[in-house]
Amino acid sequence: MINANPNVEAHYGALETRWNAVDGSLDFERLVVPTGNSESPFHRWFHLKEAFSVDLLPSILKKLSFEGLSELRILDCFAGGGTTLVSALELSSQVRVTATGIEQNPFLHHVSSSKVKALQEGPQLAQQLQDAFNEVGRIYGSDASFKADMPALSTFSNEAYFPPSLLASLLRIKAAIEHCDIPTLPRDLLLTAAASCVESTSRLRRDGRALRYASERQPREPWDEFSARVQQMIDDIDLSQPASGTGTVIRGDGRRPLLHVDGAAKKDLIIFSPPYPNNIDYTEIYKTEAWYLDFYTDAQQFRSQRLKTLRSHPSVRFSDEYDFECSSDAAAVRELVKPILEAVPDDKYATGRKQLIKGYADDMLTLFRQCREIISSDGRLVYVVGNSAHGSGDALFIIAADLIMARLAELANWRVEEISVARGLRRRVTNSRFLRESVVTLSPA
Ligand SMILES: C[S@@+](CC[C@H](N)C(=O)[O-])C[C@H]1O[C@@H](n2cnc3c(N)ncnc32)[C@H](O)[C@@H]1O
Repeated sequence: MINANPNVEAHYGALETRWNAVDGSLDFERLVVPTGNSESPFHRWFHLKEAFSVDLLPSILKKLSFEGLSELRILDCFAGGGTTLVSALELSSQVRVTATGIEQNPFLHHVSSSKVKALQEGPQLAQQLQDAFNEVGRIYGSDASFKADMPALSTFSNEAYFPPSLLASLLRIKAAIEHCDIPTLPRDLLLTAAASCVESTSRLRRDGRALRYASERQPREPWDEFSARVQQMIDDIDLSQPASGTGTVIRGDGRRPLLHVDGAAKKDLIIFSPPYPNNIDYTEIYKTEAWYLDFYTDAQQFRSQRLKTLRSHPSVRFSDEYDFECSSDAAAVRELVKPILEAVPDDKYATGRKQLIKGYADDMLTLFRQCREIISSDGRLVYVVGNSAHGSGDALFIIAADLIMARLAELANWRVEEISVARGLRRRVTNSRFLRESVVTLSPA
């Protein structure tokens, strides 16, 4: 068992004493992971491994005693697959909901906004989707020479990853959807269903930070897979009541919500799970779906997408400029990150790691400052975040995002109400108690 860097551990120990840190495993252990999502209507349309549970929002509302509110204005700055928004709209028979999400990844934005739009439509959409599916099936089955262009991403040309006949079917499905004259929402839903088949019809598996080759995997037949997914959507829509609240997912930068939402329309609850500072690059791990749907057509667009994401990974070299450096909080932020920067081993990853630590802190400070402008006076901000181990052997150190973010939130004029430790992570690696995932509640100071 490796000891994590003791100076960094002592730094976190001292920081933590400022706040109320509690064992939240009973409340949250199963809710910080996607428990229940693959069985729940609408949520199950695309499995986002990094999502939190469909049951998280109701549980937070209960804990915050927000259940009796007549109106709930809610914002998720990192909407992902749309868990918060779908959960919020599902409550709209009990409370007047206005739910807004922001998501930067084009494919995940497509998924979450399709779900949210469908939830607001009601059962007549089920028939429209059935008709659109029938039409696509007619085109798909009518002419075997009808085929689509291959995405420029080289991963698709690897025959071990994508067996050619299956890939040809997958591409024909997309081409058939695009060929048909069908209304926008059914079309978007069909594209979501088709893109949701990319992983299961290949030998690629999302695994932590990468897409890995799974040689043992038997890829599924695309049309069968697609049909099953569309049928699932039809069933879910057919059984749903149109949500009476409003939900919107904006494609944009969640670090700067003021760019996207009206600052005067205050929120009761801001809730999000940002990318953790653990090197996972969402642009990379959801790249095959995004290329399949033509969100990128060349390497330049792909790189520029990466540059728009939160600085939680070193997959691109971000600019080495940090807004906090010229703010009144510069000294406090430097003090916060100094022991962590000093723990970075002097190896080939040093520059990228230091940029990640400073960039993540910079992004979070901006985020908390902007969120502070749009929270109502008795509102709350809840974030779910995981800490991560970096380096190895004697040089291992933890980036405790839960505590770093709590301190940055204080600088942005928030009060840290509670750090609820949901679960420990990878305890085999190190005995650091800071390797964990937490749910943190803030209120405006
Ligand atoms: C942990 S996931 C959120 C999952 C979400 N809570 C759910 O249950 O589906 C973090 C999300 O942040 C997105 N993201 C990364 N950088 C972003 C940015 N600058 N603005 C908005 N979203 C961003 C990623 O694409 C990813 O979908």
